[in-house]
Amino acid sequence: MSDATYGELTVEGAARLFEQLDLGQHDVFYDLGSGDGKVVLLAAVLCGVERSVGVELDPDRHSVAVAMLSSAVASSAITSDEADRVSFVNGDAFAPRAFEGATVIYMLSNVFPPKLFGRFLTSLQSSHRTARERCVSSRRAARFPLTSCGSSTKSLSTPL
Ligand SMILES: C[S@@+](CC[C@H](N)C(=O)[O-])C[C@H]1O[C@@H](n2cnc3c(N)ncnc32)[C@H](O)[C@@H]1O
Repeated sequence: MSDATYGELTVEGAARLFEQLDLGQHDVFYDLGSGDGKVVLLAAVLCGVERSVGVELDPDRHSVAVAMLSSAVASSAITSDEADRVSFVNGDAFAPRAFEGATVIYMLSNVFPPKLFGRFLTSLQSSHRTARERCVSSRRAARFPLTSCGSSTKSLSTPL
């Protein structure tokens, strides 16, 4: 992670994460609490995922993500085809069906209060499931039985 107080993944950390998740073109990637949208854009550019979606509660951070996507297209940092597969939602990432259809659910959750995990599990249990679904979270998930929801979890072999 960078030194930013609210916390975000570095570009190198994101690349390592994607490699360990074997993120690819058949994946639908969701970042729950996507901040400025950097990880969402990187998933589209580095891995060519089918769809890359960021869900962010804070309207200002959501606006930054939308603006970053536009400027990335303008500067050709991202192709229009890749950009078409990116979307940003301003809303509650833990609401029912907020991440419907995801194959990879990521959250940088160190800063999330534990009660959000309870809402996440409830939402996970009520969502339509996909065979390739994986969940990855920066908080140790031992207390949160994702496997009981039928979801695979990934233990990262290197720190982000
Ligand atoms: C630590 S930042 C992570 C940024 C980015 N995901 C990354 O890895 O670089 C966490 C973000 O989660 C957002 N957040 C907190 N609760 C949320 C909720 N219920 N729904 C959506 N976003 C939320 C915060 O506003 C903040 O921008």
